Amino acid sequence: MDGTIKHALVIGAGTMGKGIAQWLAQSGVRATLCDLRGEVAVAAHKDIELSWQKLVQKGKFTSEQVDKMGECLNAIALSDVDAANDAPDLIIEAIVESIEAKNKLFTELDQSMPEKTIFASNTSSIPIARLALAVTPKRRERFLGLHFFNPAPIMKLVEIIKGPGTKSELMSHLYLWFQSKGKKPAICADSPGFIVNRVARNFYGEAFRIIKHEHPGKVKAVDEIMRTCGGFKMGPFELMDLIGIDINYDVTQSVWRDFFLEPRFAPHPLQRKMVESGRLGKKTKQGFYHHDD
Ligand code: NAI
Repeated sequence: MDGTIKHALVIGAGTMGKGIAQWLAQSGVRATLCDLRGEVAVAAHKDIELSWQKLVQKGKFTSEQVDKMGECLNAIALSDVDAANDAPDLIIEAIVESIEAKNKLFTELDQSMPEKTIFASNTSSIPIARLALAVTPKRRERFLGLHFFNPAPIMKLVEIIKGPGTKSELMSHLYLWFQSKGKKPAICADSPGFIVNRVARNFYGEAFRIIKHEHPGKVKAVDEIMRTCGGFKMGPFELMDLIGIDINYDVTQSVWRDFFLEPRFAPHPLQRKMVESGRLGKKTKQGFYHHDD
C-alpha cells in the first residue's frame, strides 16, 4: 500500500459525515465535506466551527490549534468536487442508508476518481459485498467499510470491514493509520450488523419488548436503570434518540432481513410508528424525549 492519507473526501454532511470530517480535520488530515445539497455542507461546516469555539472555551483546544484545524476543512456541494485537479486519497461515503443511493454514487465516483483513491462506506448494515458490486473489479481491491460511531470525533471505535476484493495490505495499512490517529480500530467480517450493530439489536429490541407500548414513564425507567445499574453511558431509548429513530429502524430491518427474518432481530411496530410520524429523535427535537437545543 503506497502513501499515507493526506486528503479525504467525506460525502454526506449529516450527523455522521459532519462528525467524521471534524475528526479528520482535528487529526491533521485535509477533509473536504460535501453533500448533494451544498447548503447542508456549508451549515455543517459552520456547526463544526461552532463546536471548536466551544471546545476552546472549555480549554480542550487552543485558538492556534483550532486555526490549524480550520485550515484542514472545507465544505462544498458534491457537484463542485473536482476529481481531476484535487483527487482525494480516501473517500468516506456517509449518505442515506439506501443501497440504491449508495451504489449509484459509487458507480459515478468509480468513473471520475483516479485509481489510487480508496473507497469506504460508513454503512451501518448494508453488506460491503453488495456495495462493492457497484464498482469495477480493480476498484474492489481498494473498497471497504469504515464504520464510525456517533459522535465520530469522540467515539474511538472504528470497524474496518473487508469487502470481497479488499487487499489485505490495505486493511493492515488502515488499521495502523487509525491507531496512529488515536482511534481503536477493529477488523470485522462482512456479516449483518458487523459487530456492534449486531449485538446492539437486542439492546434496543428487548427494551421495546419491556415497554410493549409507548409509555414515557417506562421509557425513562428503562434508560435510568441501564445507566445507573447497568453501567451503560446511555439507555436504549436515549441512544435511539441520538442516533436517529429512522436510521436505527433502517438498520434493524436490514439486519433482520439479512438473518432471514430471525425473530430475535425483528423490528418493533413503535419504531415504524415514530418514523411515519416524523419523530426521529434529537434531529427533529422530538423522539422518545423532547429535545431543546
Ligand atoms: P443523515 O440523514 O444525518 O445524513 C445524510 C446526508 O447525506 C444528508 O445531509 C443528505 O443530504 C446527504 N445525501 C443523501 N444522498 C446523497 C447523495 N447521493 N450524495 C451526497 N449527499 C447525499 O444520516 P447519518 O445519520 O449521518 O447516516 C449516514 C450514514 O452513516 C448511513 O449509512 C448510516 O447508516 C451510517 N451511520 C449512522 C450512524 C448514526 O448514529 N446516525 C452511526 C454509524 C453509521
